[in-house]
Amino acid sequence: MHMSSIHNSIHIHDDLATLGRAVAQRWLEISVQASARHGHFHVALSGGSTPRYLYEQLVSPVFSNKMPWDATHIYFGDERCVPPDHQDSNFHMANDALLQHVPIPLNQIHRIEAENPDQELCAAQYEKCLYDSLPDITPGEKYIDLMLLGLGTDGHIASLFPDTEILREHTRLVAPVYVEKLQSWRISMTFAAIRLARHVIILVAGNNKADIISQILGDRPPMKKFPVEMIHARSIPEWHLDSAAAIYLRPNT
Ligand code: 6PG
Repeated sequence: MHMSSIHNSIHIHDDLATLGRAVAQRWLEISVQASARHGHFHVALSGGSTPRYLYEQLVSPVFSNKMPWDATHIYFGDERCVPPDHQDSNFHMANDALLQHVPIPLNQIHRIEAENPDQELCAAQYEKCLYDSLPDITPGEKYIDLMLLGLGTDGHIASLFPDTEILREHTRLVAPVYVEKLQSWRISMTFAAIRLARHVIILVAGNNKADIISQILGDRPPMKKFPVEMIHARSIPEWHLDSAAAIYLRPNT
């Protein structure tokens, strides 16, 4: 089922496999168009566990055989400050489920080296990587073809958590953030980086996300502004939800 408003385009899918296939299809469409137009496709991956449903589809022959992998550049929307082989590492999950199964040139996989104990230096190095690797729409104005985002139950995207300093960062593309409730450091793209995205896909699954989805996309009066509601990109965000996450939404939402 599809619903849209001036702010969001909402796609609801019956189950996780259908959700994964729908987002894989959008990835295919955007990547083929981008590589045909500009010779490359730049995509920022979201962290957490939900993207696994997408990666399962991307590595399947029905999608993998059509993808312009040789023209694809991979970035990370955020990373936990752990080594790349740590179970909590977003790179580790993406590498395990996707990157080691598809022929993307290794120098086109731009990992956040978040194991660096100097978080500020790590953020500055990744921001330089973005400026060096991303293409220009006009001289000095960078863009990302596709930004994938997951959604936390508190309405965070990437590591842009409620009530953190990084929400006020609108100049740097990447910054460190200490997440009190997780008692851990993260390195994250900022709203300034998300603003570079030509397409934003927000991938949400599971009944534990039903309440936050209802607060953000439902017809209840907005209680507070969640970080996900603060994003501005070059096109309206595409929400792809499974039926469990969308259970409280009504068709005319
Ligand atoms: C992270 C993510 C974060 C994630 C959401 C959803 O590093 O954790 O970038 O924003 O996308 O918390 O996580 P799940 O997909 O695991 O529910």
